[in-house]
Amino acid sequence: MNRVGGVGAIGNTPVVRLERLVDDDCAEVWVKLEAANPTGSYKDRMALAMIEAAEADGRLQPGQTVVEYTGGSTGSSLAFVCAVKGYPLRIVSSDAFAPEKIRTMLAFGAEVELIHSPEGITPKLIPAMMERAAQIAGEIGAFATDQFNNTDMVDGYRGLGEELIAQLPGDIDAFCAYVGTAGCFLGTTRALRKARPTLRRVAVEPGESAVLSGGAPATQHIEGGGIGRRPPQLDPSDFDEVIAVPEADAFAMARKAALAEGVFSGPSTGANLVAARQLAGRLGPGHRVVTVQVDSGLKYLAGSLYT
Ligand SMILES: Cc1ncc(COP(=O)(O)O)c(C=O)c1O
Repeated sequence: MNRVGGVGAIGNTPVVRLERLVDDDCAEVWVKLEAANPTGSYKDRMALAMIEAAEADGRLQPGQTVVEYTGGSTGSSLAFVCAVKGYPLRIVSSDAFAPEKIRTMLAFGAEVELIHSPEGITPKLIPAMMERAAQIAGEIGAFATDQFNNTDMVDGYRGLGEELIAQLPGDIDAFCAYVGTAGCFLGTTRALRKARPTLRRVAVEPGESAVLSGGAPATQHIEGGGIGRRPPQLDPSDFDEVIAVPEADAFAMARKAALAEGVFSGPSTGANLVAARQLAGRLGPGHRVVTVQVDSGLKYLAGSLYT
């Protein structure tokens, strides 16, 4: 596979153990530092997987336009991959998401259309974005990556799980991750379970819109998930537990992790760390919990998180 320039640098990210945020009477907590990917997010893995699989089976033709709806992380990664590979990219996003992500997509040459939603991620927002992207695809004959329904994007995260198995010899007792499309959660847990069949798979969601826990959909502000319904590729049999994290706790933990551990990230990583600490407290010494730093805190400097 010819992976030009930065595209060849996706994956093989470091993993670190939290030393200060986790007490001695808890399990170990390890964090995969996905901000080390070229656009600063684990979404680089799935963008590459979606494009390469479509190239391989002819769904995507040379020079064809690609279209996607996105909160901005997938869009940033797709814009980066499409720029290098020579595919024009049309993006449908919203002003509910970090402006840094919109600017990144533009920097990589994508055409970006925004749906106005200043109140945050409402239950109506993602369906509206999906509808507009499908409309564009129909109008111009673009290839719709359609991340929520794309199975290649889940496979794009298998490498993350395989890397963890190589990096952390011995047991991994639990893995937790904030769920949007559930791509990272599914791809990683499937790979981990091959080597660690008893792994506890814990989905993380916003406390304010805890639909996987049986709650009602509502507006919330942890970007990247909490879309107000169970994502289509996530079956209830795919997870063993759900931890709902209030957004104030997720934001506070992101700030704390930056200062105490040098893990500089966004709110969804904050939610992952809150859930991982909860699990570590419950499992106790001699066990190991793994989670992910989804992306870099640099993507959130314009918002309220670090001000
Ligand atoms: C910032 C952020 N966190 C978490 C997620 C959730 O990842 P996934 O879609 O793989 O479930 C996303 C996905 O868009 C994201 O952008």
